[in-house]
Amino acid sequence: MNHLTWALATAAVFSGNARANTVPQFAERDASASAQSPPFYPSPWMNPKATDWESAYEQAKAFVSQMTLMEKVNLTTGVGWEGEQCVGNVGAVPRLGLKSLCMQDSPVGVRDADFVSVFTSGQTVAATFDRQLLYARGLAMGQEHRGKGVTVQLGPVAGPLGRAPEGGRNWEGFSPDPVLTGVSMAETIRGIQDAGVIACAKHLIGNEQEHFRQAPEAVGYGYNITESVSSNIDDKTMHELYLWPFADAVRAGVGSVMCSYNQVNNSYACQNSKLLNGYLKGELGFQGMVMSDWAAQHAGVSSALAGLDMAMPGDTSFNSGFAFWGPNLTLSVINGTLPEWRIDDMAMRIMAAFFKVGNKIGEQVTTNFASWTTDTYGPVHYAAGKGYQKINEHVDVRAGHGTLIREIAAKGTVLLKNTNKALPLNKPRFLAVIGDDAGSNPAGPNGCSDRGCNNGTLGMAWGSGSANFPYLVTPDAALQAKALSDGSVYQSILANNQLDATKALVSQDGVTAVVFVNADSGEGYISVDGNEGDRNNLTLWRNGDNLIKKVSSWCNNTIVVIHSTGAVIVDKWYSSPNVTAILWAGIPGQESGNSITDVLYGKVNPAARTPFTWGNSRESYGTDLLYKPNGDIPQVDFTEGSFIDYRHFDQANTSLAYEFGYGLSYTTFSYSNLHVTKKRAAVYQPTTGKTITAPTIAKTKPSTNLNDYIFPDAKFPYIWQYIYPYFNTTSSGKEASQDPYYGEPNSAYLPENATNGCAQPLHAAGDKVAPGGNSALYDVLYTVTAQVKNTGSVTGDEVPQLYVSLGGPGDPPKVLRGFDRLRDLAPGQTGTFEVNLTRRDLSNWDTASQNWVISDCPKTIYVGPSSRKLPLKATLA
Ligand SMILES: *[C@@H]1O[C@H](CO)[C@@H](O)[C@H](O)[C@H]1NC(C)=O
Ligand SMILES: *[C@@H]1O[C@H](CO)[C@@H](O)[C@H](O)[C@H]1NC(C)=O
Ligand SMILES: *[C@@H]1O[C@H](CO)[C@@H](O)[C@H](O)[C@H]1NC(C)=O
Ligand SMILES: *[C@@H]1O[C@H](CO)[C@@H](O)[C@H](O)[C@H]1NC(C)=O
Ligand SMILES: *[C@@H]1O[C@H](CO)[C@@H](O)[C@H](O)[C@H]1NC(C)=O
Ligand SMILES: *[C@@H]1O[C@H](CO)[C@@H](O)[C@H](O)[C@H]1NC(C)=O
Ligand SMILES: *[C@@H]1O[C@H](CO)[C@@H](O)[C@H](O)[C@H]1NC(C)=O
Ligand SMILES: *[C@@H]1O[C@H](CO)[C@@H](O)[C@H](O)[C@H]1NC(C)=O
Ligand SMILES: *[C@@H]1O[C@H](CO)[C@@H](O)[C@H](O)[C@H]1NC(C)=O
Ligand SMILES: *[C@@H]1O[C@H](CO)[C@@H](O)[C@H](O)[C@H]1NC(C)=O
Repeated sequence: MNHLTWALATAAVFSGNARANTVPQFAERDASASAQSPPFYPSPWMNPKATDWESAYEQAKAFVSQMTLMEKVNLTTGVGWEGEQCVGNVGAVPRLGLKSLCMQDSPVGVRDADFVSVFTSGQTVAATFDRQLLYARGLAMGQEHRGKGVTVQLGPVAGPLGRAPEGGRNWEGFSPDPVLTGVSMAETIRGIQDAGVIACAKHLIGNEQEHFRQAPEAVGYGYNITESVSSNIDDKTMHELYLWPFADAVRAGVGSVMCSYNQVNNSYACQNSKLLNGYLKGELGFQGMVMSDWAAQHAGVSSALAGLDMAMPGDTSFNSGFAFWGPNLTLSVINGTLPEWRIDDMAMRIMAAFFKVGNKIGEQVTTNFASWTTDTYGPVHYAAGKGYQKINEHVDVRAGHGTLIREIAAKGTVLLKNTNKALPLNKPRFLAVIGDDAGSNPAGPNGCSDRGCNNGTLGMAWGSGSANFPYLVTPDAALQAKALSDGSVYQSILANNQLDATKALVSQDGVTAVVFVNADSGEGYISVDGNEGDRNNLTLWRNGDNLIKKVSSWCNNTIVVIHSTGAVIVDKWYSSPNVTAILWAGIPGQESGNSITDVLYGKVNPAARTPFTWGNSRESYGTDLLYKPNGDIPQVDFTEGSFIDYRHFDQANTSLAYEFGYGLSYTTFSYSNLHVTKKRAAVYQPTTGKTITAPTIAKTKPSTNLNDYIFPDAKFPYIWQYIYPYFNTTSSGKEASQDPYYGEPNSAYLPENATNGCAQPLHAAGDKVAPGGNSALYDVLYTVTAQVKNTGSVTGDEVPQLYVSLGGPGDPPKVLRGFDRLRDLAPGQTGTFEVNLTRRDLSNWDTASQNWVISDCPKTIYVGPSSRKLPLKATLA
């Protein structure tokens, strides 16, 4: 190893200057760190003709053309952690009437606020396989964010995708299947943005584990590492698996994307030019803005050149008072390091996203809540303790969304087992409910900050992806109310460890026992029971397995309900004849008890499908996380390629408990009449031609006189730790920057082509105007239909699924390519399942031509109710 090179590479990452971007070229670290991310420059600028962005572009141009350099810097740089009321705010542009933009978690509701709803998790809504519900949830969440004065809702999540079931944040996303996740992303984004709020597709990309995602966090846990983990992903896997749902997000018009904490191929995601410039803005034609995850920015100029548009929360580390951007960004433009077109493009992308969702200058909803306190009055600049005023209006934005949440969680509950007609319940004589997962947290539903504990029923998992409950209906409360209205006897033991009392209760004559168990996980900054975000194991928490084994040994009608953030190993008890029914209720949100009651009693006939595979052992998944560092810079090689979840189980032909896509109903369905129609589609044309040259948006060139950027006069209040665009001193650029490396050759290093504003070649797999990739990829090549008949005795929904075998030697045996939720089929009624198979659906990524190709291998389609029950089959001509 070349020590000089190594020292440079390390310094670069921390010094936050231009040369940091050269890290990929220096990547001779150790044997396991051979993955490199190739450079991609210049950063693609916006396309004025981009489909559905033209009007936003025009409005943004009219606005940005009036902006000064400092105003643009204000827009791109957060004001610092806890500098304003939202989890992230950028500076305002008072002269032009733009209030500070507010960035707020989370993917399940407005985080850190009161009078808001807590929605069902992404993973659980994915289990509905229902586009209408996905959209309705996005819309309702968007409306709540809008009502609180949020500009960007920080969700939905497609990274983690769910490479391994232990991943702590898998529940925030949808499914390890990229098509199910892609559809879920698109519908959620449309919903959020139709409410006038910018959605944020996150985290790009490879954020598949919590361990080592951020070096300082890992060091805090006692791990000796110097840099964040590198997720090493090859180009084919990137396209066919991890990037796929982001393509759907971009195609759906998402206004923002968040880059992740981890490195990708040994380059930090937020300064990885291949990722942001190459894949996202180049190939996918993303027109919105890229924002950093909170403190995921590690460099100034180089992150801007690599495609980052907004630094969150703006300071170099929380409350440092310094910034990679802010004054440094101002300097980098006037000292000629960062081309003016790049800062114009950053401002354009932010403002275009703002206008695209329907915002207007002068009509922004004022932020009316405070993330850092529930007090009504307090400091608006919380970190500095300055600006005492009314900061929380306590606006109730829930608008009756509880009804929708109840419906979603019920329709997302998967019936995994149902024997002896155990379910639906019908006025049971004696109902016994067992387990602490059925009751409340002694400290209240919000008793643990960011839901960072597992006490009482698991209505929400932990981390920044959570929100504060307005109330949490426990299973105990809802089931008791139902039982009493039926005249049943009802008793509950809301603990896992009262075994004597439990035995006495459930062994009584004619008892129906419902056992509630759970398994939790969350974000890495909180450790619960030794789980540092990621789950340490795939078994139930709090001795849940033992509880089920005991109860089922005493009661021959034991029904199990699982609340969890992913698959758990059910081997120890799931085949017991006394376990008559099993339900996975996911992470249901505030209506938990009502939703599960609706399913248990048949008010909602279940149709949900498990959005991941339930293996028989942890090892059976073939993928796992890295829990102990394998070097100073932990390396995770995604060597399994796209063989995760069912693709792996199918390939290995492994037995499992419940396959991907599986779920029962209280009725039955038959499948017939598979029909394939070939559609006329033009031959696929790789895109050729060039972009426009980098447009000049600014009306005048910024002054190069440092005096023009000095902190405004003494009357302008300086707020402690606040990030401004101004300089404190004008004695020299180096003094203003306070960067010891300022102006040094390495610091002023510019990657080849990084400042080139000439017209650039378009990507062959991209499109001239349409975001999301070459629009011919979305041409329909085949339409497939099948008939689905309700052969049982009650009305129900059914979720037919279509899988494709692409037929190549490196291809998974089959991949999901279509699904639908046929609603309310009456007994005897037949519904039609229809899927439009696109070119993308039938293609592989070809690394040589850097494009999608349909191989010569025979293509087979399968249709049925789950990934391993596919009664209909046809070969594509
Ligand atoms: C930058 O934003 C701050 C508020 O965050 C505001 O006080 C200041 O006036 C803005 N500066 C410019 C140049 O617009
Ligand atoms: C951390 O690891 C480095 C070598 O990788 C070693 O030199 C150093 O002593 C270690 N520090 C601690 C606190 O273990
Ligand atoms: C400018 O950026 C450097 C890191 O590149 C940082 O050390 C310095 O504090 C920043 N300056 C200001 C004024 O925030
Ligand atoms: C320009 O400013 C940036 C940001 O402070 C700094 O990193 C870089 O070294 C400067 N370049 C020159 C040539 O002065
Ligand atoms: C709360 O849950 C934690 C584990 O998450 C456990 O250690 C603790 O005992 C529980 N407290 C109560 C009061 O149940
Ligand atoms: C279950 O136990 C009850 C007594 O509580 C008995 O009446 C019933 O027949 C048993 N059912 C089965 C399927 O064994
Ligand atoms: C798995 O982790 C949970 C939560 O920390 C713990 O309660 C349980 O005992 C663990 N299971 C095993 C088999 O160690
Ligand atoms: C099933 O429950 C009955 C009590 O109803 C018990 O006698 C029997 O041993 C249980 N069977 C199993 C396999 O646990
Ligand atoms: C700018 O000056 C203020 C007031 O003297 C000081 O508190 C702050 O730390 C300085 N900021 C930077 C980035 O140097
Ligand atoms: C820089 O741009 C030129 C012209 O487009 C191209 O030939 C060259 O490969 C580029 N260099 C890099 C490192 O991308």
